[in-house]
Amino acid sequence: MKEYKRYLVTSALPYANGPVHIGHLAGVYVPADIYVRYLRMCGRDVFFVGGSDEHGVPITIQARKQGCSPQDIVDKYHKLIKESFAELGISFDIYSRTTSKTHYKTASEFFRKLYDEGKFVERESEQYYDEEAGQFLADRYIVGTCPKCGNERAYGDQCEKCGCTLSPDELINPHSALSGKPPVKRRTKHWYLPLNEYEPWLRQWILEEHKEWKVNVYGQCKSWLDGGLQPRAVSRDLDWGIPVPVEGAEGKVLYVWFDAPIGYISNTIEARPDDWEKYWKSPDTKMVHFIGKDNIVFHCIVFPCMLKAYGDGYILPDNVPANEFLNLEGDKLSTSRNWAIWLHEYLRDFPGKQDVLRYVLCANAPETKDNDFTWKDFQTRNNSELVAIYGNFVNRAVVLTHKYFEGKVPTDLKPEAIDSETLAQVPAIKAAITDALEHYRFREALKEAMNLARLGNKYLTDTEPWKVAKTDMDRTASILNVSLKLCADLAIAFAPFIPFSSDKLLKILNLPEDVLKWDNIGQDSLLPEGHQIGKAELLFEKIEDEAINAQMERLEKIREANAKAEAAAASAEAPAEPQKPECTFDEFGKMDIRTATVLEAERVPKTDKLLKLTIDTGIDKRVIVSGIAEYYTPEEMVGKQICILANLAPRKIRGIESKGMILMAKQPDGKMRIVAPEEKLVNGAVVG
Ligand code: 2FM
Ligand code: ZN
Repeated sequence: MKEYKRYLVTSALPYANGPVHIGHLAGVYVPADIYVRYLRMCGRDVFFVGGSDEHGVPITIQARKQGCSPQDIVDKYHKLIKESFAELGISFDIYSRTTSKTHYKTASEFFRKLYDEGKFVERESEQYYDEEAGQFLADRYIVGTCPKCGNERAYGDQCEKCGCTLSPDELINPHSALSGKPPVKRRTKHWYLPLNEYEPWLRQWILEEHKEWKVNVYGQCKSWLDGGLQPRAVSRDLDWGIPVPVEGAEGKVLYVWFDAPIGYISNTIEARPDDWEKYWKSPDTKMVHFIGKDNIVFHCIVFPCMLKAYGDGYILPDNVPANEFLNLEGDKLSTSRNWAIWLHEYLRDFPGKQDVLRYVLCANAPETKDNDFTWKDFQTRNNSELVAIYGNFVNRAVVLTHKYFEGKVPTDLKPEAIDSETLAQVPAIKAAITDALEHYRFREALKEAMNLARLGNKYLTDTEPWKVAKTDMDRTASILNVSLKLCADLAIAFAPFIPFSSDKLLKILNLPEDVLKWDNIGQDSLLPEGHQIGKAELLFEKIEDEAINAQMERLEKIREANAKAEAAAASAEAPAEPQKPECTFDEFGKMDIRTATVLEAERVPKTDKLLKLTIDTGIDKRVIVSGIAEYYTPEEMVGKQICILANLAPRKIRGIESKGMILMAKQPDGKMRIVAPEEKLVNGAVVG
């Protein structure tokens, strides 16, 4: 395996059109941060790039929704995202934005060089245009039915339901997201990166030289390549973005997926103006992109082609460990449906519990398949793993050291075989964690770290120092000496995953921060005999049902609100039933429709659907048997004013004579609702 001198780790730049949620964290930022923290602990030279993606239609659509400018939107969310990442301990070396001056300059120059060198193809084509809004409809401005899964709200660039990538022309029944109208086609000019020309090179580079990439990543690349690549537009007709830096390109901006990945470069330049090139242009640098699966094509195909086209020594990613998606309580995460756990809200609701979220999202990371986050699992992992295994071990070791040895690391006075056998397992566990981390298997790495805590717990259970202390203080000293060594190992091994807890444990052990070096795992010298440890403190707290129930209730309310909104939207869209064949005025005139009031109502025994209603028709009091029990209770019906067809020939229903029929309207979902006068009328008023 090649030895690299330094690492450039990028994490997808989130759109600054809303807060980040657990799906973003589990897919990208938590694994990237674990990797980077591990590398730094190994003493390697790492640069970790983050930042907000502040261009593109997602931003302008959000601005329209909130009735403000795109600048207001990106200012608001950039700040929120940046602050909440910092609070979660995502340790970027820079978190900048694609509206920065450095980025405008870098992205414009990048485009201009490719343009000057003839690396683009210039093409005129017909594109969708909204005449009412006076605007071309790129990407998410155009909505229609997904040709692959039938989702009626697929975007012009992607269907969020089945995850496929689309072009506007593939949408069935396209309409503008701005006016709702069907668009027209208009001619416009754009610049394209001819991906097709890079196909042989890509096949060699990915399919031959990167067979080690994750199955999901390799598979997606292969299917793109097998499907044949097309030239891809790198400009858009939009008024938000980086202007295309050539003459005759007024009103055109760089396509957001052209400018965003250049953001990785710009942000490195901003942070390291003097030596950024060593990260981007040296074959000794290993570049790794952390992304979600919807970004694979851009990071494995489009951006590498851009870098290849640019030349000038730019390196390509060594790996792109993209994750699958995280679901929430069985449903796809969705910003528009508010079906998410937002990071800033989590931090508000669970102050000081950053590590619990980091732990759960890593333990349950969607590394090889989509996974589900549930609040119950969150609680169980905290209470049964962090508290009951790791926390419990540390607490027992520390409390007993205070109890028997005044908080001083006791001397290993009476070693036994179990001690050396236990400590001998540490290097193997360390090697397993290391191997998993080096190969982006973060779940497995975390599991191994927890195995170290399990080892400690088992050791205490087997050696029972609290019993031994009654008769043999020398042996107790050895047991706690070994236990404290394991505590120090745990602080180091868990540090990439749950850094706040490692800091806390260092305080408890009264050790300096610089102990957190990967090589120190299993080192004997960290806690010399007689070293005074700090106060005992619980490393983790139990999470009670109340906190979990509150979160689940919040989600339940959102689920209900979404169901209602979706039903309303569906009925608004459902086409009305076709008109019946014509009838004459005379035919209509034969029908005696009147107002009436329900006096009594009861269920017809042994039926689910029938109510027996006694009504005042203004002419008489009579009985009507109606099939509305599915939609109205007897209590709801009493006192209601209704309209009836009074002269319908009487019929016997379940042995009851029914004289007339109640007028009802059928809803798109099949439910029947009463047609009632808008205001209280006299009974017996003729309707017609
Ligand atoms: O999918 C997204 O959220 C994009 N904003 C990711 C961009 S990654 C990079 F290219 F900047
Ligand atoms: Zn679809």
